[in-house]
Amino acid sequence: MTDGSSPLWAGRFSTPPAPEAHALGRSLHFDVRLASVDVDASIAHVRALQDASLLDATESAALEEALAAVGDDIAEGRFAFHDADEDIHSAIERGVTDRLGDLGAKLHAGRSRNDLVVTDLRLWLLAAGRRIDGLVVALSEALIARAREHASTVMPGTTHARAAQPVTLGHHLLAHGWALARDLERLREWSVRTSTSALGAGATATSTLGLDPDMTAARLGMHRAFANSIDAVSDRDFVQEFLAVAAICATHLSRLAADLARWTDESLGWASLDEAYSTGSSMMPQKRNPDTAELARGKAARVAGDFVSLTALLQGLPLGYHRDLQEDKEPAFDAADTLELVLPAITGAVATLRFDVEAMRAACANEGLYATDLAEALVRDGVPFREAHRRTGELLKRVDEEGLSLSGLTDEEWTAFGVPDGAALLDPDRSVAARTMPGGPSTESVLAQAEALDAILQARAGS
Ligand code: ARG
Repeated sequence: MTDGSSPLWAGRFSTPPAPEAHALGRSLHFDVRLASVDVDASIAHVRALQDASLLDATESAALEEALAAVGDDIAEGRFAFHDADEDIHSAIERGVTDRLGDLGAKLHAGRSRNDLVVTDLRLWLLAAGRRIDGLVVALSEALIARAREHASTVMPGTTHARAAQPVTLGHHLLAHGWALARDLERLREWSVRTSTSALGAGATATSTLGLDPDMTAARLGMHRAFANSIDAVSDRDFVQEFLAVAAICATHLSRLAADLARWTDESLGWASLDEAYSTGSSMMPQKRNPDTAELARGKAARVAGDFVSLTALLQGLPLGYHRDLQEDKEPAFDAADTLELVLPAITGAVATLRFDVEAMRAACANEGLYATDLAEALVRDGVPFREAHRRTGELLKRVDEEGLSLSGLTDEEWTAFGVPDGAALLDPDRSVAARTMPGGPSTESVLAQAEALDAILQARAGS
């Protein structure tokens, strides 16, 4: 029985760890976040020991009760951690043993921290994934609501951040919505793979104790047990994949944030952030800065960094547990925390953003936005596209050189150009309405997209 001051492996050792080696190895300050899932996993393991007749019903009930009590103590901040507690797993086992004496010492039969820590981290990340899923849904709903409001609001669509063709604001907002829908799909697919219990794998080669890993997995509400005990303790794909999904999602948020920062730039003036999502300057009284958007943009860098850290940690690492793997948790926690911080803030910023619909419409006076419509009008009349492009380009050049505008051209000039109703085409409402195809910027398409996204969110909620 451990007295709480010597490590779990003290039997074979004559000397305790050097303080600096202990300091390097200690992970309690961050893996304490695994406490409640460690209790859940430990209770499932106790039942496996009981099924294997290694504990009787009374012992098993006492262990479960002690585990739950230790879990409560930790959650309420009452648990007295010892300096010698290396990580949350050893602290909980020590806490149970302090309560139950020799019976507590039976808890670790047939398991290792190697299979335990993997199972804990899977359970923790699955719960984080569910929270993030809910936050992504909330942002998607905000985008869908704003898109419905602005299904007919015209704005210049851009390529290279320069005026390209008219679109609707709703269409642009839903472009972000579709990216998030893919994030939700990725999260769901990741969670199916991640729902695998490693308990029973032991340190690397299972055990001789007749435990039933499938039953343990079912007790934890997980889809399956490990298929190979070496893989079970070595695999960190589920963390790496979570970080990849998180980094992609954070990238999407950064691009949405970049649009918010651009639209609210006063030199463009298409929108303004609600005061609650802007900040002032300590020196310049006039300032209203888009810090929420800028931080949402900047935070993507650290989530990408989390993915890179873990990938660098894993690459080239031979199979089996290595203490290097203890470094998996901080990037995982950081990515989850960052998304849980950014998502609600950007959702609030989107929900309260004030669009200047008139400024967007005024920006559609840029006649270059209609050049493609003019070329396509020629194409509908049988002109090969390359020629239509050239003719339209030449028209723009002439207008430019002569200091004219397209809207100033006479009917005769339009007829000479080959598009008699050319003047009528210089109209943002007409331009977007003419793009009737699904997936385009027309009002009908935006409303249909909103419906389709809603259906995806509903189906997800029901699954
Ligand atoms: N704190 C360790 C980790 O997070 C737990 C596993 C320790 N296993 C070992 N063989 N030392 O990875």
